[in-house]
Amino acid sequence: MTTIIYSFTGTGNTLVVARQLADALGDTTIIPITRAMKDAPLPPEAETADALGIAFPVHYVDMPKIVQEFVRGLQIHGNPYIFGVATCGGSPGGALYNLDTLLKAKGVHLSLGAAIRMPENFIGPMNLMEPVEQVGGILATARDRIPEIADAIREKRECPPEGSNSTPYRVLASFFKFLITSVYGTTRHLHATDRCNRCGICARICPTENITVTDSAVAWGSACTWCYACIHWCPQEAVEIGGRTKGRRRYHHPDVTVADILEQRGG
Ligand SMILES: Cc1cc2nc3c(=O)[nH]c(=O)nc-3n(C[C@H](O)[C@H](O)[C@H](O)COP(=O)(O)O)c2cc1C
Ligand code: SF4
Ligand code: SF4
Repeated sequence: MTTIIYSFTGTGNTLVVARQLADALGDTTIIPITRAMKDAPLPPEAETADALGIAFPVHYVDMPKIVQEFVRGLQIHGNPYIFGVATCGGSPGGALYNLDTLLKAKGVHLSLGAAIRMPENFIGPMNLMEPVEQVGGILATARDRIPEIADAIREKRECPPEGSNSTPYRVLASFFKFLITSVYGTTRHLHATDRCNRCGICARICPTENITVTDSAVAWGSACTWCYACIHWCPQEAVEIGGRTKGRRRYHHPDVTVADILEQRGG
């Protein structure tokens, strides 16, 4: 069986899960969503794969904006088995249900939607990251789930999405997202402190090309997809959300490097 996994990541969790799944399945190609959206040439397998996966981090109990946009524009060839993998810090909410809705609008459906708990990267305005001592255990538990998910994909099982699609949950989640992104305005508060040495990594790593670095300043635009990559990958820990992230530990998956993320973005 040949498999394609389209993958998006901010801090590496989803990339590692996609890699582990690819290893377990065999004959799998991982295509970074940010590259596919830049019209980078897709490998021929993209049109002939028996199974097609979409892997992403949960943002505000939903899919990241950029992944929603990608799925809306995705052309699906043939009749592949379609699965979704959502990595999350606690609850995927309706993210995988929403993926199914987007796919149904294209005349296909999500056959399997797995949510995998990974270390939390939501650092602010409230800090939801667990104590660092818990990270190793979370990664080990996540890894243990991969064979079971790979078996289900290989057998082309029909499994309902993991998470919750209940109305009260959705209303609460939308309200929370509105508070953090619109009322508080997370992206308006992103800035670089005087620790910044203008290395330019944040600009190169941002999946939406939302950051400009000049000799005198680092500036954020309004096209943020809230991946928090700029915050966690800055080598100087100079990127903050207002004053709320100061002194908090940064996170990225231990097996992922800046070079891996730059490669995801197209170099
Ligand atoms: C803006 C933002 C919102 C998030 N919302 C949720 C959420 O609603 N539920 C959850 O369980 N985790 C949430 N997370 C945590 C991430 O989904 C989780 O850490 C994920 O594994 C990160 O994957 P990545 O390293 O591939 O970016 C959020 C993270 C960010 C940055
Ligand atoms: S990655 Fe950090 S140090 Fe480098 S330019 Fe961006 S804010 Fe400055
Ligand atoms: S500005 Fe930062 S948080 Fe927003 S999309 Fe770019 S890297 Fe991600």
